[in-house]
Amino acid sequence: MKKTIAVIAGDGIGPEIVGEAVMVLKQVAEKFGHDFAFDEKLVGGAAYDACGDCLPDATLAACRSADAVLLGAVGGPKWDSLPGPQRPEKRALLTLRKELGLFANLRPAKVWAPLRDASPLKAEIVGEGIDLLVVRELTGGVYFGEHSRAADGLSALDKMPYSAAEVERIARVAFASAAKRRGRVTCVDKANVLETSRLWREVVERLQAESYRSIALDFMYVDNAAMQLVRAPGRFDVILTENMFGDILSDEASQITGSIGMLPSASLRADGFGMYEPIHGSAPDIAGRGIANPLATILSAAMLLRHSFGLVAEADAVESAVGRALADGVRTNDLGGAATCAEMGAAVRSRLG
Ligand code: IPM
Ligand code: MG
Repeated sequence: MKKTIAVIAGDGIGPEIVGEAVMVLKQVAEKFGHDFAFDEKLVGGAAYDACGDCLPDATLAACRSADAVLLGAVGGPKWDSLPGPQRPEKRALLTLRKELGLFANLRPAKVWAPLRDASPLKAEIVGEGIDLLVVRELTGGVYFGEHSRAADGLSALDKMPYSAAEVERIARVAFASAAKRRGRVTCVDKANVLETSRLWREVVERLQAESYRSIALDFMYVDNAAMQLVRAPGRFDVILTENMFGDILSDEASQITGSIGMLPSASLRADGFGMYEPIHGSAPDIAGRGIANPLATILSAAMLLRHSFGLVAEADAVESAVGRALADGVRTNDLGGAATCAEMGAAVRSRLG
């Protein structure tokens, strides 16, 4: 298979972790006989420093023409004082999501057996098993609604728009994902307060009745969901939710699995094109020290192989190599170990065969 992957490492620990994931992808290509080309481009603060724009035209064009995008992380204190629309988070990340039409964000959170002790939850709760998938709507809601500030500066407004069509397309992704997992979708909202949530409930309920009767569906308010995630996380299979609730709950879900350094993500379009990134940020506090955990990015590369290229055996091989490295006790600092970023990457590659 011949494919081009746009590689946008970004800021902070981005270049370190993406470097390890690219080496894993190169080894996969060699082992399974594929031809992957890597088109490296600047993004985020690194791009701003080089050319005054966190998302240069050449970067967006490279992402558009690639078969998939691998992203590290963007942002850091150095660029925090830029005006809102120019900041890396808004100009680079949110613009990429919107421009590339990546409405479906998949964030799987599971406890890897060798890392059970790394979860902050009690052993008996972890023992019930934690393996859930957050399906987050990524191009709508309050992130992309109108933002404004009154002329006197003393009041502000952020709108949270959703259309039935936007809800339906993300709900389809959640139901289809659940069909390949344990067959259960929990739609998380705030329908006791928000009109958008009531629209979500209507659309999701109708869609389930029409097309996904074999999937069990329930609804939960977001405040309760935040509580259940630490009380009984084993009850969740697929969590379907809007953009901002998904942002918040996916950080919580990651922490209960042991470390945010373990969680990959896929941001997908309906045709399978996608951008893949770890859910943690640029971690400026540890950038350049070589101690970041590259596993979330390596697992994001596995998701890329699976979702955009349909390379299931290759994705399985990467995930099981990660499992074996962990089982052999290789751990980075966030997991309570002393392996460097490069050592962890090498540990995975040496178990890839
Ligand atoms: C994420 C991040 C982003 C988000 C930020 C950096 C804009 O937290 O991908 O979860 O809120 O979506
Ligand atoms: Mg987030």
